[in-house]
Amino acid sequence: MKKLVVFTGAGMSQESGLRTFREMGGLWEQYDVNDVASIDAWHRNPELVMDFYNQRRKQLMEASPNKGHYGIAALEKWFDVQIITQNVDDLHERAGSTNILHLHGELLKARSTIDPDLIYTLDHWELKLGDKCEKGSQLRPHIVWFGEQVPALNAAIPMVENADILVVAGTSLAVYPAAGLVHYAKNGIPIFVIDPNRPGISRENVTFIEEKAGKGVEMLMEKLKNLIENG
Ligand code: OAD
Repeated sequence: MKKLVVFTGAGMSQESGLRTFREMGGLWEQYDVNDVASIDAWHRNPELVMDFYNQRRKQLMEASPNKGHYGIAALEKWFDVQIITQNVDDLHERAGSTNILHLHGELLKARSTIDPDLIYTLDHWELKLGDKCEKGSQLRPHIVWFGEQVPALNAAIPMVENADILVVAGTSLAVYPAAGLVHYAKNGIPIFVIDPNRPGISRENVTFIEEKAGKGVEMLMEKLKNLIENG
């Protein structure tokens, strides 16, 4: 089977009711990213940071995967699919995709502030100051904040290098190092970009599908079918 890498961002979950970051009405219009999503913010005002992610977690628990997530899960019938997502939601998982790498962490997990290997799955939305790991230190959201390393990047790079086809869906490609991943794809492989607003991408053989993820993934399936049929 051909290796298909799907690189997703916030737009993927927009039709599930989760807000994107950089558009009109996006989260970074209401909040200053430096106040809620940076390591400095956590040290300065952990309560505000906790509250921001508690709200995100609460909304996620009420949300469901959309047609786009299900469409990508269905691609596993024809391709060896690897998802690399910047999203911290679990909607790809709930739609049935099996290989998912989270670059920016996971909202439904908390981790110890003294031992990064102590990670806990949350079954409730509210994480509080005073909630501790088994070693007695404060738990924090299991999120990669601005000002922190992206540990999953090392695993993501060879996935993109080995891809036969790359799909980029619902990301503005504005945040590095994640956005730089598209440059690791082999020259000339087919690249499909699903986004109602074309993000800048300087690669060859790019097909833009200027639609929302739900309809865009459906159109992608047609294009991939043609690709398989024509060898
Ligand atoms: P952005 O908000 O930067 O970009 C969202 C993209 O999704 C835009 O290009 C939109 O045009 C597109 N879009 C909107 N609705 C869509 C839909 N229904 N279907 C398909 N596309 C749609 O979000 P990301 O690129 O994911 O990081 O942002 C990257 C990172 O910046 C996030 O992981 C987060 C944020 O700060 C951290 O918090 C560390």
